Amino acid sequence: MQQRRPPQLDARLGAAAAFVRPGHTAADIGCDHGKLSAFLAASGRCPRVLACDVRPAPLAKAQKTCAPWAERIEFRLGDGLSILAPGEADDIIIAGMGAQTVTDILAAAPWVFDARYNLVLVPATRHTHVRRWLAQNGFEMAGETLARAAGRWYAVMNARYSGRRREPDPLWCLTGAVQSQPGAAEYRAWQCWKMKKYRRGLAPGPEAEALDRLIQQMEDDTLWP
Ligand SMILES: C[S@@+](CC[C@H](N)C(=O)[O-])C[C@H]1O[C@@H](n2cnc3c(N)ncnc32)[C@H](O)[C@@H]1O
Repeated sequence: MQQRRPPQLDARLGAAAAFVRPGHTAADIGCDHGKLSAFLAASGRCPRVLACDVRPAPLAKAQKTCAPWAERIEFRLGDGLSILAPGEADDIIIAGMGAQTVTDILAAAPWVFDARYNLVLVPATRHTHVRRWLAQNGFEMAGETLARAAGRWYAVMNARYSGRRREPDPLWCLTGAVQSQPGAAEYRAWQCWKMKKYRRGLAPGPEAEALDRLIQQMEDDTLWP
């Protein structure tokens, strides 16, 4: 007999699931092992889940994980949001991919630039890039949760389109809307360490000077809660 208990989620996917609105159809883009899709269906949080992946092998893995709840889960093979019709899912999760892939997937689907969609983004790299892209493309950060999983920091982002395109504060892009959360100082130190590494490769000039100012601000404890 098949196990019908929802799969356990780690802190990263648990934080992503918490941003999915109960009662809405969700699309899990890049579902791979299928744990999040299975959890959303099994817990009753989502009446319908679209589990999607660009590669057949991960999608087959998801089908296996999700088998006990298959009546509520549809499986789709294809690239990003190209396999969804506008409005098919209200809550869209893109987790575990590089930052550039996350923003490329969004940029390729203009229909997602609409306040009706609730985006849950968990970039595996370069959180700064995703925060900047969201602001420049008219999205607001409705929420952000810091999560530590498998020895790494993740920023779990919840974004909605407002149409207010703007150039964001570079310090905010680096540190996120998480500065009052547990682990924030450690996360900031980790982001700062990466900036310093990048800084070492820069020739003297305006970019290096701007980065020095940002590093100084990140290291100034009087500026942070
Ligand atoms: C590291 S896994 C992440 C799995 C799960 N979302 C998580 O966060 O634990 C990344 C998955 O994204 C899929 N993927 C990569 N690029 C994609 C794209 N453009 N469209 C859909 N899926 C993609 C990969 O095939 C892989 O299964």
